[in-house]
This record gives sequence, C-alpha cells and structure tokens, in this order.
Amino acid sequence: MTKVLIATEKPFNGAAVAQIEGILVKAGFEVAKLEKYTEKSQLLAAVADVDAIIIRSDKIDAEVLDAAKNLKIVVRAGAGYDNVDLEAATAHKVCVMNTPGQNANAVAELVFGMLVYGVRNFFNGKSGSELMGKKLGILAFGNVGRNVARIAKGFGMEVFAYDAFCPAEAIEAAGVKAVANQNELFKSCDIVSLHIPATAETKNSINYAMCSQMKKGAILVNTARKEVINEAELLKLMAEREDFKYITDIMPDADAEFKKFEGRYFSTPKKMGAQTAEANTNAGVAAANQIVGFIKDGITKFQVNK
Ligand code: 3PG
Repeated sequence: MTKVLIATEKPFNGAAVAQIEGILVKAGFEVAKLEKYTEKSQLLAAVADVDAIIIRSDKIDAEVLDAAKNLKIVVRAGAGYDNVDLEAATAHKVCVMNTPGQNANAVAELVFGMLVYGVRNFFNGKSGSELMGKKLGILAFGNVGRNVARIAKGFGMEVFAYDAFCPAEAIEAAGVKAVANQNELFKSCDIVSLHIPATAETKNSINYAMCSQMKKGAILVNTARKEVINEAELLKLMAEREDFKYITDIMPDADAEFKKFEGRYFSTPKKMGAQTAEANTNAGVAAANQIVGFIKDGITKFQVNK
C-alpha cells in the first residue's frame, strides 16, 4: 500500500489536514503524520517506509533521501522549494514538485498587513503615513507579485515591477509599470516588496548598494526568503539612514542586531505569509492531488527537478 507522510514542522490547520487525509485515503493510500517535530532524527525515522512526502519549509536533504528507501515523490505544499536538495532528489530518482500560486494571495495580503503596521509606526500612537499615492516596487512578478499588484491598486498606490524572467509586456499587460532593471526599481520607489526565490543568483543580492539607492523614508518589505538579504550590509545601511525601515516575515539571523533600530524594524516570530486556513487548504489539497496523480497516472506537472 502506498504510504504518504505529511511532515510539517509548522503544521497546516486541522481542517486542511482532514481534507488532505481524505483525498489520500480515498485514493487507497495510508497516511502518516509528523507535525511540530523538533529533531531531524524524528524526520529520518518517519520517512523510512514512505512512498511520498508532503512538506512545507521542511528540509529534505541527501540524508533524508538516503533514509527514505521507498520514496518516489516529495511535494512542497507551497511555492519556494529551496528547502529541497533537488540534485540529491534527482540522484535518488525522487520527483519533486511544488504547488505554485496556491498560497500567493495569503502572502500578498500579509505584505499589506505589515506595510500598514509599518507606515503607522507600529501603532505607537505617533502620526504615520498612508499608502495611497506611494510608489510600490515589486521585485519579481510571479504569483505573489501579481497579487501584491492587485491589492496595491486598491490602496491607490502607483505600482512598478521588475522581473528578470518576465517580459515587460506581461507586466504592463497586468496594468503595472515595468522598469528596466532592479536598480531602477529601488531608485524610483518608496517601498520595495521582495518576491524573488532564494537561488545562487539572488542570495545576498539585496545589499547596501541596492538599498542605499532608495528614497528618503524608504521601506523594504520581505515576505520572500531571509537568504536574499545581505544582513550585515542592511544593518550598516540602517545604522546610517534613520529614515529606512525593514519589515520582514522571515526573521533574520541577526534579529537581535536589527531590533536595535526600534521603530524601524519588524519581524514576525515565525513565517506567517502562508499561514491562513485558505492557503493551508489550497496548498495541502493541491499537494495531495498531485501525489495521487503521480502515483496512479504518472502525472509530472509541477515537477521542479526535471
Ligand atoms: C512558500 O514558499 O510557499 C512560502 O514561503 C510559505 O512557506 P511555509 O509553507 O513554510 O509557510
């Protein structure tokens, strides 16, 4: 019997888990759950006899793949799959998929929740500012970036975007101003919202040179990945520029250092972007369906390690 493990250090909500289990059980699969685990050894033990795994930001590396002798597929219920060692998965003949777009609206809504909090001085009682009329720069125009653009228009913001992989025409077709390059985006916008994945090219790319081009009163919002930030250089910039705010959904390694910039820094304690009932259900159900499609019919749509 096909056995599927739901391995979530940060669990889906109960209703989403029930739906995921329902789909897998209906397909005739056995379901195991490993939630809120704290040690890698627990994951290594849990994967020993499973054919498929549903994960979130849980790390799947060569050691986990070695321990999972029957494994055929890993589905990351979410967008970013930088937590999975794709080369090792391919070497182990394991198919890796994500569920693109399923939690995009949830992340985009959080951008604005955090932005309103930021421009209102973290609700400290002092007069803040509004988003209407401000220039918002969206870095990477994928599923999240597009949702951010849609919501920004509702706030009456002027919306700009740059995406190294998305043609300017596609950005303009969505009613957003396409800028020529990343520097231009940082130079021309009051607020920049990051939606790039963590790759060899993007890691540490949001650095002093990039951010120091931003206007007075600039805000950098990060709901993407902490790895894209050059933390030492951003700290240097924030020490130099008392007008600069950093708001993030991914706690930096140097959280304690950033906290010294009181009133100009906010981080959620745990990544909250995709943590809604709707996103949990959308991504979890998609992951379960993708596993059924792969095991029963060999469907490889959304495979990321081709
Ligand atoms: C994603 O890549 O889909 C988001 O960062 C959400 O990650 P999470 O499932 O760990 O909340």
